[in-house]
Amino acid sequence: MLTALILAAALAGAPPENPSPTHPDEEAVDAYVQSNANAAATPFAGDEMWRAFHGRAGVDRIVDDLVDRSVADPRISEVFEAHDLVRLRRTLKEQFCYILGGGCDYTGRDMTAAHKDLGLQNTDFNALVEHLQAAMDREKVPFRAQNRFLAKLAPMQRQAVER
Ligand code: HEM
Repeated sequence: MLTALILAAALAGAPPENPSPTHPDEEAVDAYVQSNANAAATPFAGDEMWRAFHGRAGVDRIVDDLVDRSVADPRISEVFEAHDLVRLRRTLKEQFCYILGGGCDYTGRDMTAAHKDLGLQNTDFNALVEHLQAAMDREKVPFRAQNRFLAKLAPMQRQAVER
């Protein structure tokens, strides 16, 4: 009984759930202020987009596929070497879930800070978008929903790339 009460109290005070909690294999990063504003886009209203992406399971598949394709692409694979892909997958899933109206909080860094030492070029950005399109196609996300999502991400190019 006491155990049940303690458990209930702990659950009542628990913060909102994100797709995956901070993974024990993640590397520490420098301190930063957590805010959904770091996601660099406002979420879609309603659940139309979230359903078009097949909810959490669909977004998880798309992000994993996007990362897998990116690290396997000789044009951009080097950029991902020596970076914490456990954290990248987790925060990308949060960011996509937040923007698509899935109700997650984004706990990662802002787009400028996250990419500042990577020396990214516009061609790198285009390669990543290509992989995202392939991952959305594979998930059978309708074309119109794909384009609406890409339009939300497009302004991030200025923050992520150097030129
Ligand atoms: C719309 C485009 C993009 C979005 C939405 C995006 C999103 C993110 C997110 C959420 C993070 C993690 C932030 C954190 O750790 O707190 C991140 C980091 C990273 N991104 Fe991007 N990104 C984009 C473009 C790119 C491109 C074009 C590349 C390379 C081709 C790239 C490579 C990386 C790498 C290597 C990291 C890890 C940095 C580190 O460990 O310090 N990203 N990105």
